[in-house]
Amino acid sequence: MKISVFGTGYVGLVTGACLADVGHDVVCMDVDEAKIEGLKQGKLPIYEPGLDAIVERNTKEGRLHFTTSPEEAVAHGSVQFIAVGTPPDEDGSADLQYVLAVAESIARHMDDYKVIVNKSTVPVGTADKVRDKVRSVLAERNADIPFAVVSNPEFLKEGDAVNDFMKPDRIIIGTDDAEAEKLMRRLYAPFNRNHERTIFMDIRSAELTKYAANAMLATKISFMNELANLAERLGADIEQVRQGIGSDPRIGYHFIYPGCGYGGSCFPKDVKALARTAREVGYVPELLDAVEAVNETQKQRLFHKIANHFGGVDNLRGRTIALWGLAFKPNTDDMREAPSRTLMEALWQAGARVQAYDPVAMDECRRIYGERDDLVLCEDKYSALNNADVLAICTEWRTFRAPDFEEMKQRLKTPVIFDGRNIYDPEQLREDGWKYYAIGRGETA
Ligand code: UDX
Repeated sequence: MKISVFGTGYVGLVTGACLADVGHDVVCMDVDEAKIEGLKQGKLPIYEPGLDAIVERNTKEGRLHFTTSPEEAVAHGSVQFIAVGTPPDEDGSADLQYVLAVAESIARHMDDYKVIVNKSTVPVGTADKVRDKVRSVLAERNADIPFAVVSNPEFLKEGDAVNDFMKPDRIIIGTDDAEAEKLMRRLYAPFNRNHERTIFMDIRSAELTKYAANAMLATKISFMNELANLAERLGADIEQVRQGIGSDPRIGYHFIYPGCGYGGSCFPKDVKALARTAREVGYVPELLDAVEAVNETQKQRLFHKIANHFGGVDNLRGRTIALWGLAFKPNTDDMREAPSRTLMEALWQAGARVQAYDPVAMDECRRIYGERDDLVLCEDKYSALNNADVLAICTEWRTFRAPDFEEMKQRLKTPVIFDGRNIYDPEQLREDGWKYYAIGRGETA
């Protein structure tokens, strides 16, 4: 099938490359010439394990093309994916200008039936706006061309996006058009080989499903973080509690890991956006507000623990804190809403310095914060410890899981770890002479 994808950001590129990999003929369009030029030469604008090989293979074999020409992209596909960004507006709501600009461009250039698929995460009701936009442009053109608008939200996890796309738990398709349903069924047939994963529903329900999934997952995390804070005060160990409740299949083991808060491009944005949508229709979303508030507090937890350890915020001036992990989670260089940022910014505010190491996010950190005296980005995890007072951990990268603790002790001024991801055994560390602060595991600070 011929497919066009507008937007070669995270979602667009994964979608385009994976659809090409199962045999579809894909054109990816972006207005950013440098990005398209880079992609033509196999340079990816994002870090995503496995994606570069798929892009390279499909470009070479002629199933994946890149262009900056909207005419070319519109002419190519019978299915047109909109996968452009929806950054938060000044007031926090999703800015739909890029989505609607693509809709307009499709309407300007189309001359036969098109299925226009919303892949970007957009508020409920956006498909109607896209439809209105296409209709009005077609009316301007005096063109009576049939089209359908479909909602097909993505459920990709950064770092595991290729796998999520290739082996999806479910494919949600919201449509009210029989022809579009047929085409979408064909498009996704290669992903349904062992069992049916496609769930068809009405457009608004599909749009809401995306928010519902992310808000539910964020709720699980905030719930666990609240319990972790409680466990600390009660002298219980949240990691044992986690296993105790996870074994109940109604609760399950997934997404109940307590930590220094959730970050990334989805959970924070989507929980806020859903709460906003609720208010717009006159509903007070008490639970969603709490999920968000608990997370904001949780992202401050490591800072407060560090400050309390030193006897107050005032005693942080002039201290050096080693920081392992900048990305909002492992296997990505993404630092959007990362707990590491909340921690670093609070430390800087208090007059402390940060010596940080992350296996892939250091360039991203440099891009965000530039050169500053109170931030040193270190070559490896051990040199980040040199003459630092204590160590804080914000991301559970594999390389941090079994470090040489003796080496660490020699480099740090004091053997103290603030672990925002509960990756070590508290008893073992205590036995080895460490002061170990984790999340919800006995040691409060
Ligand atoms: C998420 C959804 O999982 C995905 O389905 C959706 O399409 C986009 O949003 P992503 O943001 O890439 O994906 O990362 P995810 O692995 O879900 O982690 C999000 C945040 O939650 C991370 O900061 C992570 O550290 C945190 N988290 C996750 C926890 O604190 N505890 C957990 O148990 C799980």
